[in-house]
Amino acid sequence: MSDTGGETLSNLLREERRFPPPPELAATANATAAEYERADADRLAFWAEAARRLDWAQPWDEVLDWSRAPFARWFVGGRLNAAYNCLDRHVAAGHGDRVAFHWEGEPGDTRTITYAELTAEVCRAANALQALAVGAGDRVAIYMPMIPETVVAMLACARIGAPHTVVFGGFSAEALRGRIIDCDARVVITADGGYRKGKPAALKPAVDEALRECPDVRNVLVVRRTGQEVDWADGRDVWWHDLVDEQPPEHEAEAFDSEHPLYIMYTSGTTARPKGILHTTGGYLTQVAWSHWAVFDVKPERDVFWTAADIGWVTGHSYIVYGPLANGVTSVMYEGTPDTPHKGRWWEIVEKYRVSILYCAPTAIRTFMKWGGDIPDGFDLSSLRLLGSVGEPINPEAWIWYRKHIGGDRCPVVDTWWQTETGAQMISPLPGVSVCKPGSALRPLPGITADVVDDTGKPVPDGSGGYLVLTDPWPGMLRTIWGDEKRYVETYWSRFSGMYFAGDGAKKDEDGDIWLLGRVDDVMNVSGHRISTTEVESALVSHPMVAEAAVVGASDATTGQGVVAFVILRGEAVAAAGPAADSGADEVAARLREHVAREIGPIARPRQILVVAELPKTRSGKIMRRLLRDVAEQRALGDVTTLTDSSVMDEIRERLPGAG
Ligand code: WTA
Repeated sequence: MSDTGGETLSNLLREERRFPPPPELAATANATAAEYERADADRLAFWAEAARRLDWAQPWDEVLDWSRAPFARWFVGGRLNAAYNCLDRHVAAGHGDRVAFHWEGEPGDTRTITYAELTAEVCRAANALQALAVGAGDRVAIYMPMIPETVVAMLACARIGAPHTVVFGGFSAEALRGRIIDCDARVVITADGGYRKGKPAALKPAVDEALRECPDVRNVLVVRRTGQEVDWADGRDVWWHDLVDEQPPEHEAEAFDSEHPLYIMYTSGTTARPKGILHTTGGYLTQVAWSHWAVFDVKPERDVFWTAADIGWVTGHSYIVYGPLANGVTSVMYEGTPDTPHKGRWWEIVEKYRVSILYCAPTAIRTFMKWGGDIPDGFDLSSLRLLGSVGEPINPEAWIWYRKHIGGDRCPVVDTWWQTETGAQMISPLPGVSVCKPGSALRPLPGITADVVDDTGKPVPDGSGGYLVLTDPWPGMLRTIWGDEKRYVETYWSRFSGMYFAGDGAKKDEDGDIWLLGRVDDVMNVSGHRISTTEVESALVSHPMVAEAAVVGASDATTGQGVVAFVILRGEAVAAAGPAADSGADEVAARLREHVAREIGPIARPRQILVVAELPKTRSGKIMRRLLRDVAEQRALGDVTTLTDSSVMDEIRERLPGAG
């Protein structure tokens, strides 16, 4: 359990500040303590009631079929349409004029889209996809900036039963191609580009490059956002404004089976190949809608909700698109970066739209801390009443800063633990009920069961650490890894018998509350993004100069972790580079950093690359990443006795910048 970090742990558990819910919030909270009682009394009845928040074309016969565990079926026999639940039914209930999105482009252009308008646009796009011969079950890849058409594209897919796979716009052509091929997508929806950091950033060229080796993709539907020049493949490429705008704004939403695939989201695992996490319709929508209602206490008539994340991640899927829309809530959506054109951009947006609930990642909070509290202090943030955190452990100081500088010391902060695989929030305070502790996600939400276990799968006593597991199936759970049932069972359900292994270390405090401590596997968490060490290693060794590579996540004050790589160069490559090769280590490192950015995406670009002569290995040949992490974090080395050759570490240390 060395990875769960003894030192951090004891610091965390000395945290004694407590924050009870504000009385006004508690008095009117959507979710009260009764939710826990109902769920404890009958978990399946609790979820059945949550499912009744949705409109079903046909009710289910059975809440959960777990007879083929770990393959779950929820709301068996039920039929519904996800897009209808997010759109039409709100219009039918008389809320067509309610704003669905206040969209803010990075350059300052804005759009306000009502539920009626969004419904019409999704119908047009659904008709357009059908005109491109996309049918139920066909996969559609979406590679887009943060613009309203991204939401429209996702919901149009959902409406016609075509599972979407949204690929984060920051990923490379290579990463996009891998995902398109893995899920066998036949249509890609993209844009010429989007605005990032004050400039148009192109997307279409990456699609063109990816498709050079994807012969099965028939069409590319292209939104014009930036007006950049694009290459055009006649017969394959279609402008969105040519095809979608001319479609009728009506479209009959067919009801699909509760277990019909809704989307595939690729995420990094412990191997080089990302996993296609499959989510289906009824259970997923039930849990995202319920959790969004309970954890964010949303009041659709008056709240303005903002998840400041990218739609290319699961947080965007569940809490920009499906959760808020299923609940008929008004959201803010922002295209760009937080420091464009100035470092107060987010707070200007909160002030402008009177945002009442904000959800973001600790890495953003730590960045704002670095920029200084006087920046948010200069804006009117009095509309805020609730704050959320997601994506990585939030350290108590960041939590307190968030509460104080953004939340005016009055807003509760809900630290929500969940994963791409869980689909929705799993461990979190309920803002009207829980007494919050800075840095703790507290306890499983009603209807969810979790525990912390030791190596043998035995629950640890309060006050001890171990591995986080989920002990019962839940509605939003992944159903499988796309095309790889075996890997699904092995990755999640084999480490501990009958339990879902999350890959996170955790600790139960003396009250039994849960503190998340980060990954225990080879997955790094950089700015809230999951990146696999193996994936970066395999990108590095794909470069002709590299013989061997080892990658670790080193703690980083702002991004949580930073990618640090140790590489051994190929002798012939070094020789070819000439006599200056050694002094050219910086040059080599720079080239390799760019190579990784190109192979995977800029988020995976190593913070630091050290060229070394050898890597520390155990006698069985396993690289001792723990020692490399010690080096990267400039700490005293841990136990080196299992190394084949302990002088290796001395040499590595000498290569460190600043080593004397
Ligand atoms: C981490 C993002 C601590 C965790 C929704 C998990 C967290 C991984 C928290 C999933 C939190 C997420 N506290 N750690 N509140 N939320 N994590 O799939 O390591 O991108 O396994 O889903 O992020 O990342 P993913």
